[in-house]
Amino acid sequence: MSKSITGFSKLSKSKKIDWIVDTYFSEAETAKRILKQYWNTDDKLQQLHDEFIENTITNYYLPLGVAPNFLINDRLYTIPMAIEESSVVAAASKAAKFWLERGGFKTKVISTIKIGQVHFIYKGDFEKLNSFFKKVKFKLIEDTEAITKNMKKRGGGILDIELRDKTSDINNYYQLHASFETLDAMGANFINSCLEQFANTFKNEALSFELFSESEKQIDIIMSILSNYVPECLVRAEVSCPVEDLSENNTISGKAFANKFIQAVNIAEVEPYRAVTHNKGIMNGIDAVVLATGNDFRAIEAGVHAYASRHGKYSSLSHAKVENEIFTFWMEIPLALGTVGGLTGLHPLVKLSLELLHKPSANELMQIVAVAGLAQNFAALRSLTTTGIQQGHMKMHLMNILNQFEANDSEKDILTNHFKNNTVTHGAVIEALNKLRV
Ligand code: MEV
Repeated sequence: MSKSITGFSKLSKSKKIDWIVDTYFSEAETAKRILKQYWNTDDKLQQLHDEFIENTITNYYLPLGVAPNFLINDRLYTIPMAIEESSVVAAASKAAKFWLERGGFKTKVISTIKIGQVHFIYKGDFEKLNSFFKKVKFKLIEDTEAITKNMKKRGGGILDIELRDKTSDINNYYQLHASFETLDAMGANFINSCLEQFANTFKNEALSFELFSESEKQIDIIMSILSNYVPECLVRAEVSCPVEDLSENNTISGKAFANKFIQAVNIAEVEPYRAVTHNKGIMNGIDAVVLATGNDFRAIEAGVHAYASRHGKYSSLSHAKVENEIFTFWMEIPLALGTVGGLTGLHPLVKLSLELLHKPSANELMQIVAVAGLAQNFAALRSLTTTGIQQGHMKMHLMNILNQFEANDSEKDILTNHFKNNTVTHGAVIEALNKLRV
């Protein structure tokens, strides 16, 4: 049985590794070698990574790929994507090329409001609480002055604070529900700092509010935290073209393709089992760009999936239609992103990715990320409703299988060629490799 340890975080990196390999690994030297293999030779760069989190022992690499030819509102982009799944970048590139020849992607930011809440318990008369809130609202904002000064200078800040009565859900439960404009920052730190200040002011001011009884003065702050549900931080991405232009290589007519494609979207709109996978395909594109640009993909995931359930049933994020012989495929999704703060000015690859994207504002990044999601969804649905997904997927996975069996360069060449015209399966690749090796 493995042992517990106290003071682990205080140990040096090499002592941490010693403890881990001694405790968990039979081949201590092999484990150490693998961990150290991923250290950067540039000590300063390694230190930067070491200091991102606690207890760093090595770096975990993901490939950073690029998908060129994205025409977004008549401007060309090459989109950086950090992802391990073999087929994602290839699919994005294919979809980008397809729409490049058909007018590209059109996008629009609909709104950029973010939300934070102070959750508290108040045992008393609601009218008194409401009068207190009205009286103290200005002071709540005034007391955040030191936090909001710079953001306000740039045109952002606190938009509003509401008192919300949640006692029908939980006895004595209320909220300060605040809205924010955080411009190019994702805004988590800014919002949380404002909320904690609201909570302090609110609790302290209650102690001297003349209408409150002694017990009503004891407001119990439960927590103050931003919400990752951002249905009012919304962006729209769209592609459209005449139905007949959807036809490619004359394998399927534009009309037949559009019909099948729309059916596939309709199924994801009504059937949660399908909707989750459909949206997962969208997130393949979104997460990859979110990661490459140093944003918080967990926040994005949580917010997007909550939005997909906003009508009480989990549903497709994207939609498609044909009207007047024009095919349109679109999506509106919430994306709270930043292009300043956080990792954006720290991680060299994040800085590089942002420069590749023409140093976008947060609004521009929202549009680029939404396009990556829509493109990915288009590519997946196009394969699913025509050739099936496995053909392309396994072609891209071929290299992983070859690497797993330590194929050399010449074996890779021969087998990549062979599988251009043969179906890739795990078994078929092993068989072909074994044949080569006899
Ligand atoms: C695989 O990562 C993503 C897909 O399953 C998405 C979809 O089914 O739409 C291909």
